[in-house]
Amino acid sequence: MSHRIYLLPPWLRLWHWTNAALIIVLAVTGASLHFAGEGGYLVPFSLAAKIHDIAGVALACAYGFFVLANIVTGNWWQYVPKPPGVLARCLTQARFYAFGIFRGEPHPYPPTVEANFNALQAVVYWFIMYLVVPTVVVTGLIFFYPELAPTKIYGLDGLLPVAMLHYIAGAVVILFMVAHIYLGTTGVRPTSLFKMMITGWHEE
Ligand code: HEM
Repeated sequence: MSHRIYLLPPWLRLWHWTNAALIIVLAVTGASLHFAGEGGYLVPFSLAAKIHDIAGVALACAYGFFVLANIVTGNWWQYVPKPPGVLARCLTQARFYAFGIFRGEPHPYPPTVEANFNALQAVVYWFIMYLVVPTVVVTGLIFFYPELAPTKIYGLDGLLPVAMLHYIAGAVVILFMVAHIYLGTTGVRPTSLFKMMITGWHEE
């Protein structure tokens, strides 16, 4: 008989899908802006710029909500990899994704209400949510107020490092999302984890 536990409150699911939709819009419009002028673009330049600005501000608000809600509810604790043995548990989890899963082995660290994430998820989600996404958001906001950036750095335009960081962090979020969607298919059924992100119930 399948076993179900309720893991994800509505605010988290609502934030997750709002965030995912905004990141997709930002990725498509961001690519149109970055690769403009190199032959056909996905979205015309001025429209892409407008949409990217609006979705960027919305993402900053969604991120502020995510941080506040994590503090208020105590959910931030899920993102802290808990010693001892974090590296060993990450390696066990990586080995499972690389080999064990294809041999039908059970998940080494199935989620519980107390520990929703395995160690690898905690490390990766922490890195993305508390380092990479804030980098995208802060560098994006500096583009709105370019006077915040130094005029010159080592004789180069002061906005250059901001632009590079924004691009690199944005690319990391997109690469994360591709791996994240693949790993989303590794529940008891390929659709289970996606359903969990909608209903809040985890199936085992
Ligand atoms: C279409 C795009 C996306 C899909 C289909 C998707 C799907 C999923 C699924 C199935 C899970 C549950 C897997 C698990 O951790 O057990 C999940 C959790 C999560 N996703 Fe996504 N995701 C998407 C985009 C994103 C993006 C862009 C981010 C961040 C930049 C993100 C951040 C997270 C986080 C932090 C969790 C864990 C939430 C929690 O349990 O507290 N996702 N996502």
